[in-house]
Amino acid sequence: MADDGDGDEERHRQSRLFTDDDGGFDAERAREESLPVEDGELVDTDELADHQRYVEGRGIYDERNRVNDLTGREWKYATKSVIPEGYPPDVQHDLRSEHGGQKPPRLCAELIGRFSKAGDTVLDPFAGVGGTLLGASFCEHEGTGLREAIGFERNPRWIEIYEEVIERENAERRARGEPPLAGQNMRQGDCAALIEDVPDDSVDLLLTDVPYWHMDELEQTRNERATRESKLGAFDAEGDARAGDVARPEAEETQSKSDWLADMAAKFDRFADAVHPDGHVVVFIGDMYREQSYEFLSADLARAIESTAPLTLAANLIWYDPTKDLHVYGYPFSFVPSMVHQNVLVFRLDDGD
Ligand SMILES: C[S@@+](CC[C@H](N)C(=O)[O-])C[C@H]1O[C@@H](n2cnc3c(N)ncnc32)[C@H](O)[C@@H]1O
Repeated sequence: MADDGDGDEERHRQSRLFTDDDGGFDAERAREESLPVEDGELVDTDELADHQRYVEGRGIYDERNRVNDLTGREWKYATKSVIPEGYPPDVQHDLRSEHGGQKPPRLCAELIGRFSKAGDTVLDPFAGVGGTLLGASFCEHEGTGLREAIGFERNPRWIEIYEEVIERENAERRARGEPPLAGQNMRQGDCAALIEDVPDDSVDLLLTDVPYWHMDELEQTRNERATRESKLGAFDAEGDARAGDVARPEAEETQSKSDWLADMAAKFDRFADAVHPDGHVVVFIGDMYREQSYEFLSADLARAIESTAPLTLAANLIWYDPTKDLHVYGYPFSFVPSMVHQNVLVFRLDDGD
């Protein structure tokens, strides 16, 4: 962009105003004075292209961004392939932990901020006690803008818990004088049926945590209480056996791994119709170590989905939880991994779908 000279003069005047003891440009002081500073340099806002805008304290935002509402500076961090964060138990964790497979709402909010824009629609077809839905509500109060979220969950107990979480959380928020979290649209039933009511291309982000094909012993024990208490204790033909799912342990083997993969792939094929062509499908999946071998479930699931649904794997983010308890597995005879990470598969829609 041509400069008539005044811009240069003004910039130099500002630079002179914010010099440190050695006569260099004092970026920190300039930032404190709310001048647009990017990478230690004063930004000349006259030089921004028409599609660029300086957002105070956040950097330069490109209006052509269809993925999220992040500035270039924020994008740099948001595209890191590892999320090394332990999310402390919060948002009525005690209530939500009855599920056993719940995800931290703040981690979900972080992912929602990376893969959607304010006002977008987020769908979680395996919603559990609502990690995704709570994350979508958090976005409103954490500067990234409310998303509308829809959740499908077939176990009414988990829906009851989600509703109680919102009620208790909002009572506490009101008592602290904070604005309440928006309640989201949780629907009870089988996702295979409920997806039929979601119009094509209407979802901007599908964020979910799939039910597993197996359940290890620890998770079984943890879920015995839920199994006993639930009126819906049956392990049905879709056979999800995992932390948080309601399962009859004796029926654990009713679905083979390849059946599970085929079932998931078919479901994602159907879900993809609901996702907007610019949207993303983001899936939590942990790998497993069983019977002396590593089950690379994330890779298997990614390949099964890619080969069935019109989706292409764009990334595998690793959520590394440094706060996870470590146990001594296998010592001193066999190397057994202590799983302190989960995979977050990121798919985009294939062109033309
Ligand atoms: C891994 S959990 C999701 C946990 C969730 N991310 C949270 O934060 O609570 C998977 C959930 O999918 C539900 N589920 C499994 N198969 C389903 C189906 N066909 N339709 C709807 N929900 C289903 C299970 O009951 C379980 O609660």
